[in-house]
Amino acid sequence: MLIGVPRETRSGERRVALAPESCKKLAQAGYTISIEAGAGEAAYFPDESYREAGATVEADPHSLFASTDIVLKINPPTLDHPNGRTETAWMRPGTILLASLMPTRNLDTMRALAAGKVTAFSTDAIPRTTRAQAMDTLSSMANISGYKGVLLAATELSKYFPMFMTAAGTVFPAKVFVIGAAVAGLQAIATARRLGANVVATDVRPEVKEQIESLGAKYVGIELKESAAAGGGYAKELSDADKLRQRELVTEQCAVSDVVITTALIGGVFAPKLITDAMVRRMRPGSVIVDLAADGGGNCELSQLGDTAVVDGVRILAPLNLPATMPTHASLLFSRNLTAFVQAFTKDKTFLLDLTDDIQKGSIITHGGEIVHKRTLAAVRATAASA
Ligand code: NAI
Repeated sequence: MLIGVPRETRSGERRVALAPESCKKLAQAGYTISIEAGAGEAAYFPDESYREAGATVEADPHSLFASTDIVLKINPPTLDHPNGRTETAWMRPGTILLASLMPTRNLDTMRALAAGKVTAFSTDAIPRTTRAQAMDTLSSMANISGYKGVLLAATELSKYFPMFMTAAGTVFPAKVFVIGAAVAGLQAIATARRLGANVVATDVRPEVKEQIESLGAKYVGIELKESAAAGGGYAKELSDADKLRQRELVTEQCAVSDVVITTALIGGVFAPKLITDAMVRRMRPGSVIVDLAADGGGNCELSQLGDTAVVDGVRILAPLNLPATMPTHASLLFSRNLTAFVQAFTKDKTFLLDLTDDIQKGSIITHGGEIVHKRTLAAVRATAASA
């Protein structure tokens, strides 16, 4: 079977879906691999490193998409692109696509994939089970965001993170407040602690208290009147009463913090607005907010997605696609996740579709001309109804 790896064309993207290391593994498993010329360049994987790993380098993206059985990508394929790349239309019916499709955020693309009879799997819909851990691109990328978000905050802050006792006297450690303590948030806590900051963190899932404390941070939280668990470890939106009580807690913590890192998502997709204009204005000038939920719309009302805003001396960073700023390791890890998925379903050098398998069943989005993923289908119906 032929695996094709195109160059990513999203603005600012520097990752590639397959690193040479994984290319070698898939070649050993019996696949023929074709990579678009220059696909790994921005991640410092030159074409030559793919040739050495047993792949062929293809200059024409159209023929790469049209000839492969399995397409490995990071971002959804393009619907239309200024340079004429209509990747969704280039794939043959029956092509298997594996990428982080974020299907409920990209409904038009999902419709096009269904119309083209592509069998599309989205890595962000893979169930969060022990067996699927090695395939979990969400965790690999969230870890990078949490780490890099803290480094960004440290370079923006006009103070030290650690405590220092110097000949000129003592400076006290920075206070960091982390909102949302799943993969990105826990990595942010760990990174801020390694840099010597005092860290306080909150989440609406009380079960993370122990994890926060095990990293040397302090947990703060409200007693919820209604559970915020949406199943699968995901959070749902808080009730109006709980929102009000959480607002008080967040206001208090923001006002005494030097750095606020936000990572909160609802259902793993959309960002609730947790930091209001008024809360920012109560923060000390020189404080820094890093809104790591910017890709989902942002947790701060004043975030300018993909940019930095300055309000009353508070710097609000809302970086998009942070993993792309660490393209070598981000590609390496993403690539290992995709390779684990392909290898798990390979028998006799062939990828086997098995829609009774919980991993395939959970992550398949389009198949046989239909959108088959429940949440995506519900989102498509909801937009059709509101139109
Ligand atoms: P996520 O990116 O979906 O959400 C981030 C965090 O924001 C969550 O902890 C959520 O509770 C929190 N949040 C939502 N609304 C909030 C609010 N109003 N205030 C404060 N916090 C709020 O999380 P991620 O990293 O995708 O993880 C989702 C779940 O999957 C977690 O339970 C995690 O432990 C679990 N997981 C399981 C794995 C496995 O078993 N293989 C692997 C990775 C994650």
